[in-house]
Amino acid sequence: MSAPLLSVRDLKVHFPIRGGPLGKPVGWVKAVDGVDLDIARGESLALVGESGCGKSTLGAAILGMQKPTGGTVSFDGKEIVHGDAGARRSLSRDMQIVFQDPVSALNPKLTIGESIAEPLAIHGVGSARERRERVTELLSLVGLHPQHAKRKPNAFSGGQRQRIVIARALALNPELLILDEPVSALDVSIRSQILNLLLDLQKRLGLSYLFISHDLSVVRHFADRVAVMYLGHLVETGRTEDVFARPVHPYTEALLSAVPLPDPAAQRSRQRIVLKGDLPSPANPPAGCKFVTRCPLAEPVCRESHPPLVPVGEGWRAACHVRAPAAAPSG
Ligand SMILES: Nc1ncnc2c1ncn2[C@@H]1O[C@H](COP(=O)(O)OP(=O)(O)OP(=O)(O)O)[C@@H](O)[C@H]1O
Ligand SMILES: [Mg+2]
Repeated sequence: MSAPLLSVRDLKVHFPIRGGPLGKPVGWVKAVDGVDLDIARGESLALVGESGCGKSTLGAAILGMQKPTGGTVSFDGKEIVHGDAGARRSLSRDMQIVFQDPVSALNPKLTIGESIAEPLAIHGVGSARERRERVTELLSLVGLHPQHAKRKPNAFSGGQRQRIVIARALALNPELLILDEPVSALDVSIRSQILNLLLDLQKRLGLSYLFISHDLSVVRHFADRVAVMYLGHLVETGRTEDVFARPVHPYTEALLSAVPLPDPAAQRSRQRIVLKGDLPSPANPPAGCKFVTRCPLAEPVCRESHPPLVPVGEGWRAACHVRAPAAAPSG
């Protein structure tokens, strides 16, 4: 197997909670707490989990927009040293992010041609004429008319604006896009158009995606693999079809139980698992398994130690003392 395009190891982002008169840290919000993940070239990995579990923070730390507290991020086999301005610059050619809200992502004063050409200008790519040509090419790539380049963002609908944001993200020919809830702010009727555009671009350009989403029915069609996050940790990762068909972790199972099944007979016989209580605060997570306070299967061992992610199938791992017990050390 070839080396992954993106490789994240033991990544941590802890935010200080400041208090007292001197503003010293009185605690830490462990938003991301030891995450490992790989994305292969041309692959899409969906990152799912409840609001506040650390998805956006993980995406931002991969990009270097958020300084990690620990761990490593490697792109194409090379470790990225975040914080170094040169690294950040070359990284923005490799990876780009598309956020949820296309309205705030575009400067209302610039024409969309200027917005799309901005990354090219910042990186000193091409002459003014070449940049204009590239803008035309990018607009048609995302299904917009070249004449649109002269207009300001307020002339466009939400879906069109997200196309413009995607065109700008592609300007420098990145290999990986981090898509943070890219359709959640859009009208339901146009979400599938944008998702289809992203799938089409992935095929045509060989892109890799980290697709952050809380909408599991979208993830099922969109992503090759899925990573389920709970309170700063990954609890299960595997091929989408495997995880959706036979979730191992009780949290994955609960999340998926809320997703409608395509087969009406299967849907009628399915049981919805409603989790008790809210997500605990990442500033004060439970000891042992982070899911223990809401888990229907919890046993005493789950309060004692944090379960590691262990293989449960091909390219499939889960972190659960009950469903995926780690092998006892031999000897
Ligand atoms: N800059 C920050 N300072 C302090 N705490 C933060 C900061 N950014 C995020 N957090 C906290 O880190 C945790 C994870 O937040 P994050 O935004 O990554 O979650 P998320 O999974 O993306 O949620 P959502 O689905 O709502 O977008 C939350 O408890 C959040 O309050
Ligand atoms: Mg988020």
